[in-house]
Amino acid sequence: MVSLKTELCGIELDNPLIPASGTFGFGYEFAEIYDINMLGSFSFKGTTKDPRFGNPTPRIAECDRGMINSVGLQNPGVEKVIENELPKLKRCFSKPVMANVSGFSVEEYVYTVERLDKEEQIGWFEVNVSCPNVHGGGMSFGTSPEAASSVVRAVKAVTKKPVIVKLSPNVTDIVAIAKACEEAGADGISLINTLLGMKIDLKSKKPVVANKMGGFSGPAIKPVAIRMVYQVYEAVKIPIVGGGGISSAEDVIEMMLAGASAVEIGAANLVDPMACPKIIEDLPRVMEKYGIKNLKDIIGGAH
Ligand code: FUM
Repeated sequence: MVSLKTELCGIELDNPLIPASGTFGFGYEFAEIYDINMLGSFSFKGTTKDPRFGNPTPRIAECDRGMINSVGLQNPGVEKVIENELPKLKRCFSKPVMANVSGFSVEEYVYTVERLDKEEQIGWFEVNVSCPNVHGGGMSFGTSPEAASSVVRAVKAVTKKPVIVKLSPNVTDIVAIAKACEEAGADGISLINTLLGMKIDLKSKKPVVANKMGGFSGPAIKPVAIRMVYQVYEAVKIPIVGGGGISSAEDVIEMMLAGASAVEIGAANLVDPMACPKIIEDLPRVMEKYGIKNLKDIIGGAH
């Protein structure tokens, strides 16, 4: 018998799988096709203080081994999330959930975290300082150690729940930013968000997505994600949620060997909504193949 259990900031997970924010709605949509309680947890759609319609369409472009999205943090705003989304989620998910939070100022991050903090089902905050699809917020907080740590410090002052910071790969020194977040009090690091990318249509000779650029995700970015998780694991003591192009049990194991305590599955959910259940089912066989008894034991094993 193998064990898939792992732990994230003091909370035990039945397995390391966490569908990534923006690819899993508020969970109840996927609960129509499988019992989402089989997941470790999931990170719900990036929530902001005010409702957001998102960017103009088209917002999606398929690419080789990946896709570009420029959704632009579409969400109903924190009040409606509390009023409408979380009660629906509670009916189909009995585990702690990860709340992904974004903002356009430090005050907005603080407001949203403070409002969500009262929600019992929220186990962790995933503070997103890495959305590449909005101006004046999102990624602009995640590209400097000072800006990222100012968000962490402010948010930590209003919640006792673990604060995991989701970092952007669109930086020259990921280690400096991760270390600054740890020093500011972050309880965990989540990486990577999408890589800023672009696709041009040869017929129209114009960018495919209306916002011109967007976040590139999917299997093509996995080596970048593995490299960044590996580097950050060497530099910080807090746990890492690793993600970026993960789509198989083998990928999950590779990500944990790099240093991840839990693993986010993003674009794979959009290719196959059953991706997560299939990976969970496959993990014991792949663990046995590679002589792994406890997934927990392999975290950082490549170092
Ligand atoms: O545009 C979006 O909603 C994406 C968010 C993110 O990548 O964090």
